[in-house]
Amino acid sequence: MSPLPLGKPVAVRGLRKIYGGVVAALDGIDLDIAPGSFCTLLGASGSGKTTLLKALAGFETADAGEIRVDGRDIGPVPVAKRNIGMVFQNYALFPHLTVHRNVAFGLEMRRVGRAEIAARVEAALALVGLDAHGGRLPRELSGGQQQRVALARALVIEPDILLMDEPLGALDKNLRQSIQIQLRALHRRIGATTVYVTHDQEEALFLSDTIALMDRGRIVQVGAPEDLWFRPANRFVASFLGECNFLPAPSGPGEIGLRPEKTLVGVRAEAAEIRLDGVLGAAVFTGTGYRVTATVAGRELTALTGNDDPVARLAPGSAVTVGYHPTNAMSFADTDR
Ligand SMILES: Nc1ncnc2c1ncn2[C@@H]1O[C@H](COP(=O)(O)OP(=O)(O)O)[C@@H](O)[C@H]1O
Ligand SMILES: [Mg+2]
Repeated sequence: MSPLPLGKPVAVRGLRKIYGGVVAALDGIDLDIAPGSFCTLLGASGSGKTTLLKALAGFETADAGEIRVDGRDIGPVPVAKRNIGMVFQNYALFPHLTVHRNVAFGLEMRRVGRAEIAARVEAALALVGLDAHGGRLPRELSGGQQQRVALARALVIEPDILLMDEPLGALDKNLRQSIQIQLRALHRRIGATTVYVTHDQEEALFLSDTIALMDRGRIVQVGAPEDLWFRPANRFVASFLGECNFLPAPSGPGEIGLRPEKTLVGVRAEAAEIRLDGVLGAAVFTGTGYRVTATVAGRELTALTGNDDPVARLAPGSAVTVGYHPTNAMSFADTDR
């Protein structure tokens, strides 16, 4: 395949979509996606991820707002003219066409010459590691291979933007992880601006340059995985991405958030700058460590600790010290939800 053009920047402004009812599926979305970056829309089911992706693809028209690709408003541009590659959860391959013909389809529609189609299909299949499988039918491939055919089909048109809606959702965990690794490497190689939808926070953390966390039609926070993890904008982000314990702030209003791996219990807490009286719940062995619960001021906290931590030998109900270092505490205003 000829070197792909560098991905294009995407700018979404004030995008709104209401389906019939009163609740907005998209409630004023503003989002900038850097050229060539991998941006993930992360959120619970019903938060508006697919609706935003469909608006980008042109399958849904927004009620208000605009989408600009490389500075150009694509609102009036029909689906077929948007030069966007899409991959869905259910591969949507043509069952009666060979892998090669499935991948060639988009190029045939664009009336690309025969020799060029052959070369580009071959290159796209090589890109996803399926160059030896062009003659097979979809049913002769595994689920993971079929999904890679779908990816090759999206990439072969050299899209300005690659959109993927929970593409690994139907695959089992091992296969999903292996394809995540391939997807990451592939994205680095092709550099297409990619918008990826998932409800799986680990997948989002692993794949993304940028995560846009969505809730009820809005983007709650946008940033690098580390930004959302270490500097969550509010309590919602802190508990959606990973786990978080909440405690009253030691002084003043509001609360602090503590990750379980930064929450210290027992002897490890004795040296902590902030120490509180707690009651041990249970210590559950997880192999690499213990998952310890303790109650402090009426709140149950979770701590993750090493598998050599003596706290595990204490009886449930024992008095324990719970502690943390203030640098590990995230502050939230009491108005956050
Ligand atoms: N075609 C539709 N008609 C009516 N309501 C819809 C339609 N598509 C989505 N919705 C509603 O819009 C909201 C967002 O849906 P969706 O974008 O599919 O969320 P997600 O992909 O994050 O699960 C949900 O409340 C959903 O029920
Ligand atoms: Mg969806």
